[in-house]
Amino acid sequence: MNSSRTPEDLTILPRDLHFDVSTARSGHWLDGDPVGTAVMNTLSLTFPDGERLFMDAVRAYKDQLSGRLEQDAKDFIAQEAIHSREHHLLNRMIDRSKYPVERVEAEIRDKIAFSRSGGPMRMLMATICLEHFTAMLADMFAVHNDMFSKTEPSIKDLWRWHAMEETEHKAVAYDVFLIAAKDWSGFQRWFRRSLAMLLISYNFTRNVAEYASWMLEADGYSPKAAKKAVKEFLWKQPGFFARGWHIWVTWFKPGFHPWDHDNRPLMAEWQSEFDLVAAE
Ligand SMILES: [Fe+2]
Ligand SMILES: [Fe+2]
Repeated sequence: MNSSRTPEDLTILPRDLHFDVSTARSGHWLDGDPVGTAVMNTLSLTFPDGERLFMDAVRAYKDQLSGRLEQDAKDFIAQEAIHSREHHLLNRMIDRSKYPVERVEAEIRDKIAFSRSGGPMRMLMATICLEHFTAMLADMFAVHNDMFSKTEPSIKDLWRWHAMEETEHKAVAYDVFLIAAKDWSGFQRWFRRSLAMLLISYNFTRNVAEYASWMLEADGYSPKAAKKAVKEFLWKQPGFFARGWHIWVTWFKPGFHPWDHDNRPLMAEWQSEFDLVAAE
């Protein structure tokens, strides 16, 4: 089966919210932990340019969209634009005289320029893979309650809101892909998206680990200790990437669709909470 299974009654609601992230300026905003902060800052640094790539990838196929998906694509773009704006503000709180923010941003720009150079389909394939990745991280964030326990509530809110909206729109780029690749055989669609996922997951996890290590070195860690600490955070304790593997791996099922994993109940509370804030 290679058709959209996005729930009929799902609404994608761009909530134009603002978060006070000014306390992040003091440094280790994630529970006072330099390692977790280095990883989350790195992730946040990937968002503005990364999400712009996602928006452009979906926008490139807008003429092929109609009805519900056409509207979902607009709401997807609106959500990502607001996410970028808010993460940009968080990124501005990172002390650039201490941390190699410019170096990390330049690396991210290079990787994204490479992805763009492959044309709209390569951009769309990168988008669906990274959207699966962010949906996985969002799900894990909602399931496990062991991070952000000593984090300033308004900073935690930014990440919770982002995770919830990533879940709402997790299938939009994928549904666009199903239309854009409708003339491919089922095997071709499966093969190309599987290959893309392997390549992108390898590069993305490796790059995040590398950039986060650079950030941590600025906290006084030796290069070796920084690499080890970041690796531990990502793959062992708390296993920020590793603990979502059971969601990640579902990608490789022929006929996969992001909503095969219907995690709406998990996000319902956050959704109504931020709906209320947005309505204020
Ligand atoms: Fe986003
Ligand atoms: Fe997204």
